Amino acid sequence: MTEGPNANHFLSIRSQVEPFHAMDVLASANQMQKNGAEIDFLCVGQPAAQAPLAARRAAAELMENGAIGYTDAAGRRDLRERLAVHMLDTYNVTVDADRVFITTGSSAGFTLAFLSLFDVGDRVAIAAPGYPAYRNILKSLGLEVIEIETHGEDRWAVTPHQVTQVHREKPLAGILIASPANPTGTMMTPKALHELIDCCEDLGVRFISDEIYHGLTYAEATGVEEATALQYSDKVIVINSFSKYYCMTGWRVGWMILPQDCVRSVERLSQSLYISAPEMSQVAAMHALDCQRELEQVRLSYLANRQLLLEELPKIGFEKILPIDGAFYAYADATRHTNDTMEFARQMLDQAHVAVTPGLDFDQGRGHRYLRFSFAGDTKTMKSALQRMKDWLT
Ligand SMILES: Cc1ncc(COP(=O)(O)O)c(C=O)c1O
Repeated sequence: MTEGPNANHFLSIRSQVEPFHAMDVLASANQMQKNGAEIDFLCVGQPAAQAPLAARRAAAELMENGAIGYTDAAGRRDLRERLAVHMLDTYNVTVDADRVFITTGSSAGFTLAFLSLFDVGDRVAIAAPGYPAYRNILKSLGLEVIEIETHGEDRWAVTPHQVTQVHREKPLAGILIASPANPTGTMMTPKALHELIDCCEDLGVRFISDEIYHGLTYAEATGVEEATALQYSDKVIVINSFSKYYCMTGWRVGWMILPQDCVRSVERLSQSLYISAPEMSQVAAMHALDCQRELEQVRLSYLANRQLLLEELPKIGFEKILPIDGAFYAYADATRHTNDTMEFARQMLDQAHVAVTPGLDFDQGRGHRYLRFSFAGDTKTMKSALQRMKDWLT
């Protein structure tokens, strides 16, 4: 069956979103591994490390002794209060626990935020390159996606000037920004973030801040400090998750900090869409918030991987790596080898047994020149992959 609009008249047009090509690479890599091949996985955006020990223990205990049920749609009160303390400790920002909303991963947060803020046909801006699910979720909800290309001279950030221009052509209802971003790991400086939020507020454009990679930042190497959008405005929606820094992808738990005017609408939507986030994951998440020391070790392992890739990738022709201020990705220009990274990634998987992600998912205009290398795995995997790629390419 062909994919694309109207390929099947019995399915909705809104469901015909682009496939996530990275998942195709992953599926082939998994199949090869099942057939006995040893694959180095640099294609997945999930930590190799497990959830912190205290989180796993708390979940095991609950499973043994406790009732696991629905919680309030907004989540367990103790977790919401703990997250309010986390915001104060981490950013010196005071938020009322009533504005903290627990979600089934940040993915559910996007749907709730979009439904709460926007109506069908509204225009919402995102950055290119960027995380492809934004585009797909927005489209499937009947929203118009406006992709704003970012550039090296702006440190790969959407600028107030760009937003103003796009808004003048036809008004935007909102914008979603991730800092650090996927696939680049690049962060907005606090000043750039502040200016963009001010500009959006002046124009009446709602600002959604995806802060899922917070905590995974490398200020000691980059000098770029982490800032939450809440430092600059109470009107933004902040979306975050336990998936990345807390190594809890499969637990499906995240959180939002909502502006007061959205609290009730998000609650009503969530009651019907999700009922609540899984209670066991909420309990585990609360314990994860107290595991800084263990999680710092994980972050330091990424810092070492980051350094290794920054040194070694250019030597084998993957150059002009975008600034890796955070997250666990190196997004590199591969034009020394190819202009079709989709095909190149396929061949590299087949022949060198290294799985990486082609850029097309993240940037439909320029992604065919880029590859994303995830360094969320262990250092041994990074070294093995670098050696295999070198042998394959030379
Ligand atoms: C930028 C970004 N936001 C959100 C997500 C979704 O994460 P989750 O639903 O596990 O919280 C991802 C996953 O890779 C991501 O890279």
